[in-house]
Amino acid sequence: MLSQHENDLLTRVGAGTPMGELMRRYWIPAAFSHQIAAPDSAPVRVRLMGENLVLFRDTRGRVGLIDERCPHRTASMFFGRNEEGGLRCVYHGLKFDVDGNCFDIPCVPQASEVQKRNLLSQLKIKSYPCIERGEVVWTYMGPPSHKPEFPDLEWTRVTKAQRFATRHIQECNWLQGLEGGFDPTHLTFLHGGDVGRDRSIVVTLYEVIPTDFGFVVGTGRDPGEGRDILWNVNVMLMPFHKIISSVPHAAHVWAPIDDENTMLYSIDFTPNRDLTEADLERSKAGRGIHTENIPGTDHAIRNKGNDYLIDRAQQASGASFTGMKGLGTQDCAIQESMGAIADRSAEHLLACDAAIIKIRRLLLQTLKDHADGKPLPGMRPESYRVRSTRYEAPRDAAFTALARERVRIDAPAMAK
Ligand code: FES
Ligand SMILES: [Fe+2]
Repeated sequence: MLSQHENDLLTRVGAGTPMGELMRRYWIPAAFSHQIAAPDSAPVRVRLMGENLVLFRDTRGRVGLIDERCPHRTASMFFGRNEEGGLRCVYHGLKFDVDGNCFDIPCVPQASEVQKRNLLSQLKIKSYPCIERGEVVWTYMGPPSHKPEFPDLEWTRVTKAQRFATRHIQECNWLQGLEGGFDPTHLTFLHGGDVGRDRSIVVTLYEVIPTDFGFVVGTGRDPGEGRDILWNVNVMLMPFHKIISSVPHAAHVWAPIDDENTMLYSIDFTPNRDLTEADLERSKAGRGIHTENIPGTDHAIRNKGNDYLIDRAQQASGASFTGMKGLGTQDCAIQESMGAIADRSAEHLLACDAAIIKIRRLLLQTLKDHADGKPLPGMRPESYRVRSTRYEAPRDAAFTALARERVRIDAPAMAK
């Protein structure tokens, strides 16, 4: 259970909020590159961290992410003409480049050159720097002097044929997604029947430790009879990434649209070979939800409005614990069901929530460190060279050192 104040600290992401400012110190996914595939193609709307923006690719292929509001009289730049090196507002013709500079002001032909230069210098539109990695456009919305290098995120380095990515909107706060992603207990219940977890071997050990990239969440299951502990170690890379230990490997990114909506990017990838048809089939079946968006939208076909197409007969027969198809659907349904922003002051936490409690404490500590000007995790690109993993270790083996070592991956796999 958290106080209302703590819940606000962790969940609110608008500009000026503690979590919003912390997240803005990292690269944030704004869109898939294919959404603005060609130079001078149609701009797209992007809502990110509570801000309304417009994304476009200029004539030279450079990517710009600018405020949706034209600084002249606040018309939407979404309707703009993308032509010859910039986006032109269609209301009175002001034109902006990817860096937000106004470089044409045709609505005041009578102005002298000096007057025009003055006007242009005043008419800058807010813009955020962008970079393309892994067929995704990423943006940095923080203070320019703190902009980090792009992290060595493994799935962004592999070839197109080694990666399968989708995204969909979750109608809830980002932290519900992240907490669901690191909730060890729900695998046995919510996803029961899909992941084949043996309920007779229960999780008895919960470890959450800070690292140079974020934290690792370790859950230990004791098979009894003095045998080694079965550790499942998941990595959380600041500020909202998870790498999943599976074949193929997988990743989730919970990018806040605003306080009450989240864009979940899901990526499956293979570091050393192309994905096969069988891999793709498995990925799509597992997700259930976001391979099947309503055409032209980022909203899943199985959604809140139709109760995720729950099949009560399947639920009753035990063929599926939930009656909902796909792990992605199950996660989305249950996380959205908690409300747009879960009221964590109304919870009754149990022993099985130990990992969640520790994650919240660590996030609150990171907020405090940020406020105190202390160094943040994940600022060095190579710190992201990690994967989630599973291993067996004797009961008395120290968790921290072993887990930190076991999640590391070699640099060669990260070659561009
Ligand atoms: S509102 Fe954009 S040019 Fe006037
Ligand atoms: Fe889940």
